[in-house]
Amino acid sequence: MSKQIRIVMLSNAGGCGKSTIAVNLAYKLAQHKYRVTLMDLDPQGSLSLFCGSQRPEKIEETISGVLMRSIGKPWHLDPVWSEATQGKVNLVQSSSLEDMLATISDLEKSDRGVYTLADALEDNPLDQEVIIFDCPTTLDILSRCALAASTHILIPVQLEYKSMDGATNLIAWLFDAFHKLRLRPAPEFLGIVPNQFDKQIGVHRQFKEAIAGAFADENIKDYPAIRKSNEFKNATASGLPLGLYRPAHKANTDFNPIVKDILKVLKNG
Ligand SMILES: Nc1ncnc2c1ncn2[C@@H]1O[C@H](COP(=O)(O)OP(=O)(O)OP(=O)(O)O)[C@@H](O)[C@H]1O
Ligand SMILES: [Mg+2]
Repeated sequence: MSKQIRIVMLSNAGGCGKSTIAVNLAYKLAQHKYRVTLMDLDPQGSLSLFCGSQRPEKIEETISGVLMRSIGKPWHLDPVWSEATQGKVNLVQSSSLEDMLATISDLEKSDRGVYTLADALEDNPLDQEVIIFDCPTTLDILSRCALAASTHILIPVQLEYKSMDGATNLIAWLFDAFHKLRLRPAPEFLGIVPNQFDKQIGVHRQFKEAIAGAFADENIKDYPAIRKSNEFKNATASGLPLGLYRPAHKANTDFNPIVKDILKVLKNG
């Protein structure tokens, strides 16, 4: 199998843009001819909505079907935006809220617990070059499963002062988790990405300055901010990435620095 990057989207606050950034990166990477699997570990199931996918009727066709010991099915991949991406983007959907809660309870009782997703990817490897795990905001066992299966971490933050503390706490938690979960090699940080930047808002401008280089000591880069635009909401309401909904929108270029780093990993390792 060629090089595979597995990116986990993590944040310490809700609504930072994990799901939005996940779908937009998936589309951009498909434009670069890479095949991408989006994996929804969030019981909210935002990715189904953001990808315009029908929720599966059978639990076997969801992430729960893979993670629950009683089912143990291989991956069920739903192609998304097929025509535009020539089938390069697939989605593993989350199950119903009730089934996701049962999955959490099952994982907590299972011997391999947080390593279940990594095990599933080892037992039934996916041949897509990119896997993006969209996680719930809570750092529960689903997020820890994704962390243990990941090679890289991307942390979206909103441009608010509490985000600085939130990011600091999350990073400290992550270093501790690398150690406790014995992740060897530990996943690498792609970086922190401020999202929903509005240059008219003074606090946003101040925060952008404050976050620049703030995590350099930990060797964690901060990406240029992704601008705020209501077109993101309109795009997701249509089940599309912004690049398909409004291909000429300037915010599409805001993802380029992250895409560039992902391409670098895929090309050079
Ligand atoms: N750059 C942006 N400009 C404007 N709206 C945005 C932007 N990014 C995300 N949004 C909107 O903000 C809301 C939250 O985004 P999203 O669902 O991606 O965050 P999340 O971190 O996945 O949230 P959750 O913690 O609920 O999973 C959504 O309605 C989304 O459309
Ligand atoms: Mg989300």
